[in-house]
Amino acid sequence: MHKDPGAPILRKERWGDYCLLCLKSPAIAREARPGQFMMVRVSDQPYPLLRRPFSIHARTRETVEIFFSRVGLGTNILAQKKTGETLDIIGPLGKGFTTGGGGSKRAKEQEPGRLAPAESLNGKKVFLVGGGRGIAPLYFLGLELKKQGAVPIIFYGGKTKSDLPLADRLKAHKFALLVSTDDGSSGFHGFASAMVEAELNRVAGLPMAFPPLDWADAPRKSRPVRAASYALAGFPARVFACGPEAMMRKIAALADRYGIAAEFSLEAIMGCGIGACWGCARKIRRGDKAEWLKVCQEGPVFKSSEVVWEEDKTNEVSDR
Ligand SMILES: Cc1cc2nc3c(=O)[nH]c(=O)nc-3n(C[C@H](O)[C@H](O)[C@H](O)COP(=O)(O)OP(=O)(O)OC[C@H]3O[C@@H](n4cnc5c(N)ncnc54)[C@H](O)[C@@H]3O)c2cc1C
Ligand code: FES
Repeated sequence: MHKDPGAPILRKERWGDYCLLCLKSPAIAREARPGQFMMVRVSDQPYPLLRRPFSIHARTRETVEIFFSRVGLGTNILAQKKTGETLDIIGPLGKGFTTGGGGSKRAKEQEPGRLAPAESLNGKKVFLVGGGRGIAPLYFLGLELKKQGAVPIIFYGGKTKSDLPLADRLKAHKFALLVSTDDGSSGFHGFASAMVEAELNRVAGLPMAFPPLDWADAPRKSRPVRAASYALAGFPARVFACGPEAMMRKIAALADRYGIAAEFSLEAIMGCGIGACWGCARKIRRGDKAEWLKVCQEGPVFKSSEVVWEEDKTNEVSDR
């Protein structure tokens, strides 16, 4: 973990309520893993005092990116920042997604709360499901999985077409991409979880509750890869998801139905992000019992069987 009090904003992109900031912070960039996050001070004024958590969306040797949607005071201030201004950031924080085990002994050991690292995901199909701003950590994860030879298929859902600002970037990086919108303005008409269900049913040869997916949005070059991966692997080896609680809960039920290992990046209101305040505590199943754990330290990524899902108070919404 590093504290970088003056990380300069090198690049900014804005699409309506969505914003991407690229920050120069070599120390954080070097250590970042997919699924980890940073705590960002949005203002040097006393208010708002608390840092806000954001997933690491991408990194290079020297830079880290965050991608966020404007939902309140902090994210509105952040969206006003300009290239050349600096931000006070802390990271990388938390435990990220479990990818291939790689060669090291440590990487092959299973930590509590994580999936056992796969010996190799080489050639294996992996589903990445992002709802709204939940796509943020999945881009970094997808790039990492590709490096390991996996075949990531990204399911990207939003309320409407303008909630999918990263679709072009994902296509440009030749990800197999399936998009859904609640209003049918782009791709599959329905929730991201319904799109995943339709796809799993299709692979399983079950009658589909939904019409066949429209693959028109998938990059042309990825189609043979996708077809080959279906033939070889059938079901995905893993499912990774981030988005609204209701979406993730449905994905967890699907993964359970088909016996697919799954991990989820959970959100929690965070006071400190470093384990000091208990503000992010959430009930997590460990062994036979559920205990209160700090999402900022034990997560934000948890495996499917451990998550005690919150009551579904609302219908699924695509933007988290
Ligand atoms: C580990 C982690 C990673 C995250 N990664 C991203 C990301 O990559 N991109 C992104 O857009 N957002 C991400 N979030 C959510 C983001 O932190 C909140 O949207 C942000 O802190 C809201 O700040 P605000 O001041 O604009 O909102 P506020 O004015 O404080 O509140 C506005 C609304 O946002 C809700 N909210 C506030 N804090 C959080 C929070 N921590 N989690 C969920 N809802 C919250 C409030 O309940 C309220 O409804 C992440 C959250 C966590 C815990
Ligand atoms: S945010 Fe303070 S303990 Fe997790």
